Amino acid sequence: MDYFNFSDKVAVITGASRGIGKAIAKAFAAKGATVILVSRKQESLDSVADEITQAGGKALAIATHTGDEIAVNQLIDEVKKQYGGVDILVNNAGTNPHFGPLLTSEKSHWQKTIDVNLFGYFSMIKACYPSMKERGGGKIINIASVAGLEPQPLMGVYCISKAGVVMMTKTLAGELAEKNIQVNAVCPGFVKTKFTTVLWTEEDYYNQIIADIPQKRMAEPDEIVSSVLYLASSYSSFTTGAILTVDGGQLVGNPRKLKG
Ligand SMILES: NC(=O)c1ccc[n+]([C@@H]2O[C@H](COP(=O)([O-])OP(=O)(O)OC[C@H]3O[C@@H](n4cnc5c(N)ncnc54)[C@H](OP(=O)(O)O)[C@@H]3O)[C@@H](O)[C@H]2O)c1
Repeated sequence: MDYFNFSDKVAVITGASRGIGKAIAKAFAAKGATVILVSRKQESLDSVADEITQAGGKALAIATHTGDEIAVNQLIDEVKKQYGGVDILVNNAGTNPHFGPLLTSEKSHWQKTIDVNLFGYFSMIKACYPSMKERGGGKIINIASVAGLEPQPLMGVYCISKAGVVMMTKTLAGELAEKNIQVNAVCPGFVKTKFTTVLWTEEDYYNQIIADIPQKRMAEPDEIVSSVLYLASSYSSFTTGAILTVDGGQLVGNPRKLKG
């Protein structure tokens, strides 16, 4: 039995226009899923949808601001109308509008971060829940971050939002377990995407960062994908509320320190 065959599944992936979300969407499509690509910009999504369909996959691109609950509900209504419901939700769209010491952040930074990174994930789950329940189960994978498990310098608001995602994952894992809906989180370490451009294009920053990562490098987006496929598959049927780090050992600590 190939539990990585998703050909009868509808998977909604937010933040699918680039980076980690795009890599996840392409992997699901390659394994047969119908993928619903979500981000704010229709044009970027259309180009990912074209890549997928040209490779023989099934994709629909629907531009949606995930911080807008009404828009999220309209998105999921459209998915239900076209495909009958949702089996897999990957909450991945994220933002980080403030870079600096926490006390320099303003209310606007908090609002944007919480709206998208936290309430956006929640709205997507709330909108998908009825159809998952109707279909007898579902899989929810929240892309959190190591920043939700340990403070990272100069991104306090973001860290707090990701810590919230970790707690939301555990809370909903307990609440939705009896509906056969598994809720898990993946916590990537540093991944080379647009989100982190300055950290891997500037040598000084890059060297400082990898000094604290035991594997001594940042990840490529594709390296986050297999953890998500696993958590979306029946291979993880008894796994819920798990917080899976994919971080090159970052949270283990600096090996030089461990050696003393
Ligand atoms: N890169 C890392 O090192 C790293 C590490 C740990 C966790 N993460 C997490 O991984 C996820 C993906 O990050 P990434 O590195 O792949 O970032 P990225 O390349 O910047 O991609 C972010 C995606 O989110 C979409 N997006 C942003 N705001 C949105 C909104 N309000 N509504 C809908 N879509 C929105 C963007 O598309 P539009 O601009 O078209 O909306 C884009 O598709 C995020 O949750 C991030 O926190 C990243």
